[in-house]
Amino acid sequence: MRLIRFFTLCLLILAAFVFAKTITVGTSADFPPFEYIENGQFVGFDMDLMREIAKLANLELKFVDMSFDSLIPALRAGQIDVAAAAMTITDERRQVVDFSKPYWTADQSIIVKADSDLTITVLFQKGKIGVQTGTTGDLWCTDNLVGKGLLPEKNLKRYDTFVLALSDLLNGNIDAIVLDSPVGNRFAAVKPVKVVGVIVTGEQYGIVVKKGNKELLDKINSALEVLIETGKMAELIDKYF
Ligand code: ARG
Repeated sequence: MRLIRFFTLCLLILAAFVFAKTITVGTSADFPPFEYIENGQFVGFDMDLMREIAKLANLELKFVDMSFDSLIPALRAGQIDVAAAAMTITDERRQVVDFSKPYWTADQSIIVKADSDLTITVLFQKGKIGVQTGTTGDLWCTDNLVGKGLLPEKNLKRYDTFVLALSDLLNGNIDAIVLDSPVGNRFAAVKPVKVVGVIVTGEQYGIVVKKGNKELLDKINSALEVLIETGKMAELIDKYF
């Protein structure tokens, strides 16, 4: 009897291992409070959201950090299964990857050093502006400032990570950064920088999978629904905002 119980237990443990599929989650961990590294751990709203989704969908997670503009190519190449990186749902991106339902809404903000007195008019004509390569902030500046002949191309500096952009801002190598408003607000709360303007874009974030990976997308979407209904989502918002 005991032996049978022991074997059943072993079988159950084994099954849990076999059935909990491991998926690789790519992120660009430079974006507090959504994703950042603390004490060597991936933390932030998106990271915890993925952990909650994984619990509901019986998935094991492996996080990998990369530059934001590598995420879509990595998904397409099958190097990662999910991108959780506060990624805005855009029509262009939707042609090459699939997005979950939206889970967040943001605008773009312009941050400068706390003691700067540069105005937006001056910044947008002759400032040195930093963005993260391939982000909606980059696209906005490229289209609306450089594209319209307002700002010289050489004044738009593209960075792999916001960590690098922020240190250049603090060192005075650039005058401003254009980035998502929740992250601009977070930087303004913890670093000597301030928000001098907001560009209302009303963009929405989604979790991203390889185009056609319906199985995984369905799991993510149903888990998102459950997290909203059970109040777990509200709990995470409270934790990080
Ligand atoms: N929401 C913006 C975009 O999709 C910026 C996202 C940047 N994310 C990051 N983890 N650095 O382009």
